[in-house]
Amino acid sequence: MVPAEISDSDVREYQDFLKNPLVEYQRSMIHELLRSFLNRNKKILDVGCGPGADFDFYKSLSLEIDAIDISREMILAARRQAQRLGLRARIARSSLQDFVPDALYDTIILNFGVINEMENLTESLKKIRTILKPDGYAIIISRPSFHLFSFLTDLVKLRINNLRQRMSQKQFELQNGIKLHYYNEKDFKNEFSIMHRENYCSFIPSPEQYKNSAFARIWTKMFISPDQKYSAKIPDKFGGDFVCYVLKANRQQTKSK
Ligand SMILES: C[S@@+](CC[C@H](N)C(=O)[O-])C[C@H]1O[C@@H](n2cnc3c(N)ncnc32)[C@H](O)[C@@H]1O
Repeated sequence: MVPAEISDSDVREYQDFLKNPLVEYQRSMIHELLRSFLNRNKKILDVGCGPGADFDFYKSLSLEIDAIDISREMILAARRQAQRLGLRARIARSSLQDFVPDALYDTIILNFGVINEMENLTESLKKIRTILKPDGYAIIISRPSFHLFSFLTDLVKLRINNLRQRMSQKQFELQNGIKLHYYNEKDFKNEFSIMHRENYCSFIPSPEQYKNSAFARIWTKMFISPDQKYSAKIPDKFGGDFVCYVLKANRQQTKSK
């Protein structure tokens, strides 16, 4: 399945996932970081807005935003969410690749793995560059290929195919058929300079593991504070559940890979 074919039940499943305490925890840290890049005078685009998971945050900052998503069902949910919150937003069904804005953006946000649903990273990054002001920021929250707890779980359970897909092919097919593509810092460097990087949940389980295992919940309770402290300082290769990259367009466009 491709993201454009997301069904109404996929949307409901994703809305359930958004209530997972570890998702809420990671999102609150992302919002803390985003706060310094957003203000009322800025033009902001939320790419792959999903059901509007960040809309209450935009509303709390009195921001007016543009939001796009490739999925019809996600856009319907996003419109309902904006209406519920009274958020001023222009919400359109479009892929990033086909989107034609009426002006350039100060900040473009791809939150919680939108980029991982895009197979052609270079094409997507080039598109972001063309619709971003020269001094604007792209903020991309991406899944890295390595997440310690997922790696160890696959190893212990001898899920060799999972390990091969994630670690060497850098992709993984979800149960709903959507293919994820894993990216690391170096993958963004052709088009963008990395201004800031924050890794989340490098030493604690993923939200799915938290939901399904009592051990994962106890471990999280014990190690969430040290994780927050040390995840922020580790090299990119140590990965995490998500990594937030704050990117600025390279002044001289380098050749694509
Ligand atoms: C994991 S959800 C993230 C939703 C939201 N940003 C959040 O923070 O929860 C990924 C979203 O990206 C959308 N998407 C995937 N590929 C896209 C593309 N090429 N252009 C626009 N949206 C896309 C999907 O339809 C889906 O709603």
